[in-house]
Order: sequence, then structure tokens, then C-alpha cells
Amino acid sequence: MNKVKDSIILVTGGAGFIGSYVIEELIPLKPKKIIIIDNLIRGSRANMKSFLDNPVVEFHEGDIRDLVLLEKCIAGTDYIFHMAALRINACAANPSDGFDVMLKSTFEVASLSAKHKVKKIIYSSSASVYGLAQHFPTPETDNPYNNQTFYGAAKMWGEQLFRSFKFMYGLDYVALRYFNAYGPRMDTDGKYTEVMIKWLDCIRDGKTPLIFGDGSTTMDFVYVRDIAKANVAALQAEVTDEAFNIGNCEETSLKGLLDVLLKVNHSTLSPEFRAENSINPVSRRLADISKAKKLLDFSPTVSLEKGMKELTEWYFEKIKITTD
Ligand SMILES: NC(=O)c1ccc[n+]([C@@H]2O[C@H](COP(=O)([O-])OP(=O)(O)OC[C@H]3O[C@@H](n4cnc5c(N)ncnc54)[C@H](O)[C@@H]3O)[C@@H](O)[C@H]2O)c1
Repeated sequence: MNKVKDSIILVTGGAGFIGSYVIEELIPLKPKKIIIIDNLIRGSRANMKSFLDNPVVEFHEGDIRDLVLLEKCIAGTDYIFHMAALRINACAANPSDGFDVMLKSTFEVASLSAKHKVKKIIYSSSASVYGLAQHFPTPETDNPYNNQTFYGAAKMWGEQLFRSFKFMYGLDYVALRYFNAYGPRMDTDGKYTEVMIKWLDCIRDGKTPLIFGDGSTTMDFVYVRDIAKANVAALQAEVTDEAFNIGNCEETSLKGLLDVLLKVNHSTLSPEFRAENSINPVSRRLADISKAKKLLDFSPTVSLEKGMKELTEWYFEKIKITTD
């Protein structure tokens, strides 16, 4: 059954990187209305270019901390993708804002959803809940006690909040723990994304790319459109009260990532290794996605090489436009 058809769907953070792709996946499924709340602190109208003028889309440039706006948008809504959040660095820099946006507002989303009988919420969680995981590939059953970040703590709390609301009020939800999202429209100065962009700048300028440390830190890079598809699958599936890893099941070292970027750009540059300037408490990431495969029929479709090619094209086009 297509639950999206004729439904009213709220996407908090819909002008953002992942949210904008979720909306692009939803539109062909013929929703009655897609409501977006985004304060554009990170998101942009440019991200929404393909759908902002679509008559089914109703964009509110506003803040999820605005309770009046939030309730107006949730009343009458069938489904919610709750994606508005602060970045991991922003939470660390300002935990008080982190509390208001990640914890208090998520509580308000849950309360208002229970009050207005929202049918299901898809909550954007994160692999950050694990900190440095205990097992690789990491199953959802790994515990979150190694997390050391405010952001990871907030995401875990959000998952537990929705769990308690399911138990208390029957509010259905699914939490998706994205691993390292990347692709066109991504933030170009995020914690780990900035390294790709710095290397792309080096490739463009013919300068030596730098690797801090020995390049052995690994991540599980998952293409943004695959994440968007996982979100829609989580809505459509008869699944509730579950958390799922959403990754690519490929462990890529920083050095391996640079090799792929050099390859897709036909570059013969070699990296220079420099002493690590900060300790990274999370040295490995690799998702076990067998649960999402089984219950959501989710499988990543975009290889790292293909995804990095698309990222490169987008980034070079973006800087061409801004420097023209
Ligand atoms: N990008 C990743 O690698 C990644 C990994 C794990 C989890 N996530 C989670 O996925 C979700 C989407 O992430 P993204 O990468 O698209 O980030 P993003 O920053 O591009 O999107 C978040 C959006 O929320 C908006 N926003 C922030 N605070 C707001 C507020 N108070 N009111 C209204 N809007 C607000 C921002 O303007 C932005 O458009 C987030 O919840 C994020 O924590 C992302």
C-alpha cells in the first residue's frame, strides 16, 4: 500500500541536505500536501529548487522551537519526518541551543504528534549513538555507552523518547541511524565532510592533499539518495518501534576515500601525511544493515565511486557558479 498517496506529510528540516531528497522521493508518490518547517540555518532554497514551486509543497521558513507554528503544522498531519537538528559541532559549541533544538523540540514534536494522532514518525537518528562501537559490522543491538558527544546523546534520547511515547500513547515511529551521509547538496564544512571538499579543492588546484594522522580512520559512506529511499521505506513498511542502521556496508579509510576521489578525477596527486592535531574517539564505522534489508527491504544502490563522481560534478559546478 502507498501510504504517501493523498496524505499530509510534515518534514522538519526539509530544506536541508537529506530532507530535500526525502521530499523528492515523496512527490512522485502523490501526497496531498508536504509541509516543510525549516529556519534555513543550514538548509536553503537552492536545496528545494526542484519542488519549492510545486503546489503540493507548503514551505514555512520558521523554527521548530516556535510552538504555535509547530502545532499548526502538526494538526491534521498524517506522517512526520523529523529531521531538523543541529550539527554535531554546533551542539558541542552551544549545548544550550542543542538542548532546545534536539531535545526540547523533539519532545514537543512527540507530544503534539500524540495529541493530534499522527500515524507515524520517521526520526533521523545517527550512527553517533554508538560512539566507537563494540562490533564491526555494527548491529543495532550494540550499546550506546561509548558515545561521548552531546549530539549522540541527544539522538539516543530522541529514540528512547519515541519509544516511551509508543508505550504510553501508541505513537508509531521508526528511528533511522544514518552512517556517513554524502552527496550533492551536502554541507561543505561539516566535521568529516569538509575533508572531501578540501581534497576536491586540492585536486582542482593541483595542490598536495593533506591527511592528518595515518589515514586509517574508517567510515561507512552512504549516498544521500539511498538514505532518502530508506526514509520512505520506513514510512511504507508495516514496522514500528524499531531502530535501523542505514549505511553502505563498506568500510572506507580516509586514505581509501582520497584514492577514490583521485581516481574519479583522473588525478595523479599523492597525499602528504601530517601529525593528527586532535584525537578522534571514533576510529571505525561499519554498519550491519541486515535488519533494514530484512524489514525495510533496504539496500544501498550507489557505489562509493559513483557517488563521489556525482559529488565532484556537483561541487565543481557549485564553485563555478559562485566564482563566475
Ligand atoms: N548528514 C549526516 O551524515 C547525518 C548522519 C546522521 C544523522 N543525520 C541527521 O539527519 C538529519 C538531517 O541531516 P542533514 O545532513 O540533512 O543536515 P542539515 O543540516 O542539512 O538539515 C537539517 C535541517 O534542519 C534545519 N534546522 C536546524 N535547526 C532548526 C530549527 N530550530 N528549526 C527549523 N529548522 C531547523 C536546518 O536549517 C537544516 O535545513 C538530522 O537530524 C541529522 O542529525 C545526518
